[in-house]
Amino acid sequence: MSDAVPLNDAVPLVDLGAAHAEVAEAIEAGLRRVIANTAFVLGPDVAAFEAEFAAACGVRRCVGVSNGTDALELALRALGIGPGDEVVLPANTFIATALGVMRAGATPVLADCDAEHLLLDPASVAQRLGARTRALLPVHLYGQIAPMEALQQVLDGRAIDVVEDMAQAQGARRNGRAAGALGRVAATSFYPGKNLGAYGDAGAVVTDDPALADRLVALRNYGSPRKYQHPEPGFNCRLDTLQAAVLRAKLPLLAQWNARRRAAAARYDAWLSSADGLRPVRTLPGNEHIFHIYAVRVRGGAERRDRVLGRLHEAHIGAGVHYPEPLHLTGALRSLGHRRGDFPVAEAAAGELLSLPIYPQITVAQQERVVETLLRVLRG
Ligand SMILES: Cc1ncc(COP(=O)(O)O)c(C=O)c1O
Repeated sequence: MSDAVPLNDAVPLVDLGAAHAEVAEAIEAGLRRVIANTAFVLGPDVAAFEAEFAAACGVRRCVGVSNGTDALELALRALGIGPGDEVVLPANTFIATALGVMRAGATPVLADCDAEHLLLDPASVAQRLGARTRALLPVHLYGQIAPMEALQQVLDGRAIDVVEDMAQAQGARRNGRAAGALGRVAATSFYPGKNLGAYGDAGAVVTDDPALADRLVALRNYGSPRKYQHPEPGFNCRLDTLQAAVLRAKLPLLAQWNARRRAAAARYDAWLSSADGLRPVRTLPGNEHIFHIYAVRVRGGAERRDRVLGRLHEAHIGAGVHYPEPLHLTGALRSLGHRRGDFPVAEAAAGELLSLPIYPQITVAQQERVVETLLRVLRG
């Protein structure tokens, strides 16, 4: 049986147009404001967004930068991490987590995730720490925070900085504390599809440490703490001011949008709980998951998962896979010398993962169509 349906019944993986419709006026006013005052680089909108985002994360400082990969690189550089240093991160994350480490000149050291939540596994981290480890880089994958207390326990008071990759977790909380306030420093991306997304590339570093923030302010702006002072080399990776205006218009809606994602995820959870052939990715107790991605696992391996994915696409359902290949099996990280089998939990997950459409504006009817189609495909 074909699942072909009229295109107007399509359910996209994300719907940026639907989000824009809710904020169009505020965004247009913000863009007009920047154009009217012609402060196109840094200026009041960047400073205001930084203050507003820092407050949302519950930390003192935010430094706006050009994207999430630069945010990771700068966070590590600001900590003085570079060549000869090792940074431990999960094998199951987006490639940019490792690229940020490599761009800082440090060596990524991969660790496995746990099978229930797919978050960085403290037991695996314990095996990967060494004399050169300078930072631990947990990723708050899919919108839920890594097990920070257990990871801290493994670090056991050693001089290892915790750097959060919160690109997928703006507004997520763990035991009441927000992502961004759970380590020494945190890096985020405002890529358009993120829970807080700009209208182009953008990112930020947040920290409660004012000295570190001052260092970041210089690093993102030619290494210049004050105009025409250059005590060290830096970069040009500032947050674009028009993007700051977009982010300022959207930030007041973030909590409400995250709540709507959580409600949508709860519906999927309920409707899929007894589905044969699916295995859930669970929420770690204590976490307020904000479902940047709603992932399930299709039992039976990559071939079956890919068949299911193909059938969903035929039915115009924008499912995805985050991510089909763990980092240690990518060409980009070949130099680490890993082999298949090195991180078995991440590998098994990569062959089974399936992401379903989720965004604040998804309707119950759209979710019903996703679930009905998925259950039919799984049966067939
Ligand atoms: C976990 C994670 N880290 C880092 C990044 C990099 O962010 P950007 O694309 O803004 O460079 C992303 C997203 O793209 C991400 O999902």
